[in-house]
Amino acid sequence: MELGLHGRKAIVSGASKGLGKACALSLAREGVDLTIMARTRADLRAAADEIASATGVAVQPVAGDFNVAADRARLLDACPEPDILVNNPGVRQVPTAYADIGEAEWRQWLNDHFLSSVTLIQQVAPGMCERGFGRIVNLSVSFIKFPQSGFAHTHAARLALSGAVAAMARDLVPHNVTVNTVCPGLFDTDALQTNLHGHAERGNTTYEAIVEDRKQNCPAGRFADPSECGDLVAFLCSAQAGFMTGQNIVNDGGVYQGIF
Ligand SMILES: NC(=O)c1ccc[n+]([C@@H]2O[C@H](COP(=O)([O-])OP(=O)(O)OC[C@H]3O[C@@H](n4cnc5c(N)ncnc54)[C@H](OP(=O)(O)O)[C@@H]3O)[C@@H](O)[C@H]2O)c1
Repeated sequence: MELGLHGRKAIVSGASKGLGKACALSLAREGVDLTIMARTRADLRAAADEIASATGVAVQPVAGDFNVAADRARLLDACPEPDILVNNPGVRQVPTAYADIGEAEWRQWLNDHFLSSVTLIQQVAPGMCERGFGRIVNLSVSFIKFPQSGFAHTHAARLALSGAVAAMARDLVPHNVTVNTVCPGLFDTDALQTNLHGHAERGNTTYEAIVEDRKQNCPAGRFADPSECGDLVAFLCSAQAGFMTGQNIVNDGGVYQGIF
């Protein structure tokens, strides 16, 4: 399926590894020029070179922290008129007992998983509306549909983003600008491996046992490949997806059992 994106420009954050890089690669395969961000300069440069040589698109790396306003300003300076924005604010998924989450920590999570993305959306959406095309996708987590003990901070902040963009979606869609949230389950990335090693240590069991347990609890019986997230995001950014907006799309191999 031709997604109608050739020559479009995208900003993708958290894009040197894992899901963000997969989103960048899927968009690049559709002929989208990229501006990508991550904090570790060498990894970002390597990802930019790899994507550019695999696809032939232009890839601008902007090293920085997505959760710092000045760094996001540099991202926009490098790509002032994006057609596509993929917000992936990075990872700090350490479980914390609800009673131990202090005010500073709530504020930090709201900054990292709500404010960073929503303020960038506010900056790019008016230009997208004027130009008559825009696709915005936030990477979240499937657990926002069934929040987990120990993750009140991250789920709250991510749900704030889903709520805000659901309302904004109604203002943007008349201008052919959509905003959706992808809610991944377990994808085989560095972050997943680190998280599962942490679970194994805290649960006094082995990494292999945790992996087996998580796969058994997934009806698909496996972890997904990051490209399965990247290709979904590329479809949501396609010319054809202009009628689909304000949605939280679960991509988790059947773990979430709700109908809605
Ligand atoms: N993998 C899964 O199973 C899964 C499932 C559900 C949701 N998610 C969510 O999806 C997102 C990506 O996860 P992943 O598994 O792809 O992680 P990953 O493989 O560790 O990749 C994370 C990427 O984000 C970059 N990054 C991290 N913090 C950043 C920041 N503050 N500013 C800019 N870039 C930053 C990292 O590079 P630097 O460290 O160099 O900055 C790297 O490029 C996370 O929010 C995660 O919670 C993942």
